[in-house]
Amino acid sequence: MRQQTELAGSFTVAGTAMSVNRMGYGAMQLAGRDGSKLVWGPPNNLDEAIAVVREAVASGVNHIDTSDYYGPHVTNQIIRRALSPYPADLVIVTKLGARRGEDGSWITALSREELTAGVEDNLRNLGVDVLDVVNLRSMFSVHEPAEGSMEAPLNVLAELQQQGLIRHIGLSNVTPAQIAEARRIVPIVCVQNHYNLVRRADDALIEDLAHDGIAYVPFFPLGGFTPLQSAELSDIAASLGGTPMQLALAWLLQQSPNILLIPGTSSLKHLRENLQAAQLQIPSEVLANLNSIGKPEKEF
Ligand SMILES: NC(=O)c1ccc[n+]([C@@H]2O[C@H](COP(=O)([O-])OP(=O)(O)OC[C@H]3O[C@@H](n4cnc5c(N)ncnc54)[C@H](OP(=O)(O)O)[C@@H]3O)[C@@H](O)[C@H]2O)c1
Repeated sequence: MRQQTELAGSFTVAGTAMSVNRMGYGAMQLAGRDGSKLVWGPPNNLDEAIAVVREAVASGVNHIDTSDYYGPHVTNQIIRRALSPYPADLVIVTKLGARRGEDGSWITALSREELTAGVEDNLRNLGVDVLDVVNLRSMFSVHEPAEGSMEAPLNVLAELQQQGLIRHIGLSNVTPAQIAEARRIVPIVCVQNHYNLVRRADDALIEDLAHDGIAYVPFFPLGGFTPLQSAELSDIAASLGGTPMQLALAWLLQQSPNILLIPGTSSLKHLRENLQAAQLQIPSEVLANLNSIGKPEKEF
């Protein structure tokens, strides 16, 4: 076990008692892979997967991001096996909006029946009576936010919340207009969109959400399935005594106080490296260099 680290301080969502350390953990990488089917089936190394989740929490992580469609069911079952009975302060954030095809595809699942079944699957596989946070994932485009009303599925989630099955509601893969629409229906505690050093479309949105005390949780903070890499990033990281991945995470932490991190890994070594990113301070002149890497958007 490692010592509890200072995980970049905590963030409390405005108007709620929900407070988490800013350095969290994303569970998607715990599921396996079957040829071209990503996030599919059991992990290569179940013991290490369980150890990663346990060590994250033992190190102070109290925010885990997951979904029952990772695996499917696999990551939730690993989280339950690793942690249940859960620590009182742990916040598990799950998401609804998709289901998996037999070919590994991600299929829209936003009907009343599918959302209700999704809540029941998450409750059963996590082994809880109430889900801490459910993110409703927009599926107008699988890969990026695209306009379209989310009113109907949000009304269903709001009903499930009133029934006591969901504590808080968040959104994923959404536009500012969809966030505004959602906030007219139900309080929104967090927004989870694709954002990192080279993916900066949400810069202004993050600031707006910070103003309203809503958490912004970047997915693919390290670049996702193809982690960020460039000579520039490596050189700057080395000059600060860190690794490129630590620098990418530290940069996110310094962007805005409402940014909560959920880097994903199936490796204990990478978990330890990522948690240490909270200790990396980026001087302002270096921050300016890093900002110029990501603006305008360019792919590494
Ligand atoms: N809402 C959405 O639509 C959505 C979409 C995607 C993901 N998510 C959530 O966001 C979380 C984070 O995303 P992600 O895991 O896909 O992407 P990520 O955190 O950007 O990167 C994960 C990748 O980086 C590697 N990695 C992690 N730490 C590393 C390190 N220190 N050095 C080198 N490589 C490292 C991982 O491989 P190893 O396993 O080998 O470490 C994995 O390939 C997920 O767990 C999931 O909960 C949400």
